[in-house]
Amino acid sequence: MSDFSFSGGSAGAGGLHSGAPDNDADRESVLSGLTEAPSIYSFNSSTDGEALLRLIQGRTFNAQNDLYYLPADGTEFARHICREKAHFAHLVCVGRLYIEHERVQQILSPVDGQQKRILDLGTGVGNWAIGMAHEFPHAEVIGIDLAPNTASTGVLPHNCRFEFDDFNLGLPHYYNSCDVIHCRIIAIGVKDFKWFITEVAKCLKPGSFFASLRALSPITDTRISVGGMLFIIEGDHNLLNSRKELQDLAYGSGDAGQSWLARAMFEAVLTMQKRGSDVDARMKLYELISASAYFENVGERNYFVPIGPWEKGGTAEEHQKGQILGILSRQSMIDLVQSLRPLFISSGYAKELVDQFVEGTEKELNELTVPMYVKWLYFFGTRNSIPITDEV
Ligand SMILES: C[S@@+](CC[C@H](N)C(=O)[O-])C[C@H]1O[C@@H](n2cnc3c(N)ncnc32)[C@H](O)[C@@H]1O
Repeated sequence: MSDFSFSGGSAGAGGLHSGAPDNDADRESVLSGLTEAPSIYSFNSSTDGEALLRLIQGRTFNAQNDLYYLPADGTEFARHICREKAHFAHLVCVGRLYIEHERVQQILSPVDGQQKRILDLGTGVGNWAIGMAHEFPHAEVIGIDLAPNTASTGVLPHNCRFEFDDFNLGLPHYYNSCDVIHCRIIAIGVKDFKWFITEVAKCLKPGSFFASLRALSPITDTRISVGGMLFIIEGDHNLLNSRKELQDLAYGSGDAGQSWLARAMFEAVLTMQKRGSDVDARMKLYELISASAYFENVGERNYFVPIGPWEKGGTAEEHQKGQILGILSRQSMIDLVQSLRPLFISSGYAKELVDQFVEGTEKELNELTVPMYVKWLYFFGTRNSIPITDEV
């Protein structure tokens, strides 16, 4: 259950919302999400920072969850904010905020008497949530995160709010209420993906049986309720070389063609798994979502993004796109390896080796000595009409 939230249309940095409920009835309505701005806590950066955040090796981390061991400070957020890097790279890659756009627009189109709702789990600074709130002003958009990352985003759209919560604890206050659920680069913080997929299925509005039968054709009859859609987007930590084969990892003093970035990514995932994260399951999300009894029309799309502006596109347009993506992902990767430093040190890696990961990554990406791709995996599925029981 959410402990803290703040919402759009409020005054102050990040639209911080004041409004602690006076009694249990108010609290209940707040938690059920039925109020227009269901904040239950007024975030105060100086006092609440201590409750939600902690300092480790000079970087700030969330204090709620030990699995997600990447910093929650300005440097880490800069890697994710819209006007920079990762979010922008996804926009350039896909051309908009979401794939399967016809179906998404159909699901989110306004219907009298229905509140459309979008949930962004692990929202980070909330760029995607804010973008969706602007694109669908009639929909309610909620970003959920462990830490108050969103405080840096400025004034929020009126239909957007953020909550601080660990989704591994369950989201019963959102059951049967969401039209779209979006989860991008959250795998490190997921304890058990099989459980997680059932939990998000519970939050999505189920489709009607008739909608399931017609799922592949456009549905124009608004009396037919279409099931909500799930999107999970993750990067493959196994980086690829320019032939899109597995990239050689650097060891010792590192040979020509070997990569310190690829080694750091590989080691980071091993370390996260040892801490209890189900991060590796993200590679088989298509199978996991397909195996769930509650989804239909499951799909996967892959995008190969160059790390650094090394790729020569076939056309001028492809070339430009590759250059932009390359520059964005290069900076994002350099920052990521910096952010992984506390994880490596606290897991017993020698400082010299961690320095090698960081400096080797910067050198090979800045000098473009090792041309590599990162493969982005976009998974999606639509909630079917099957009622969820704990037995299934
Ligand atoms: C790598 S960032 C991605 C942010 C955003 N989705 C994006 O694509 O720009 C991952 C975010 O997920 C959040 N997160 C990880 N595990 C979580 C959990 N169990 N509950 C809530 N948020 C979580 C982290 O705090 C972090 O802000």
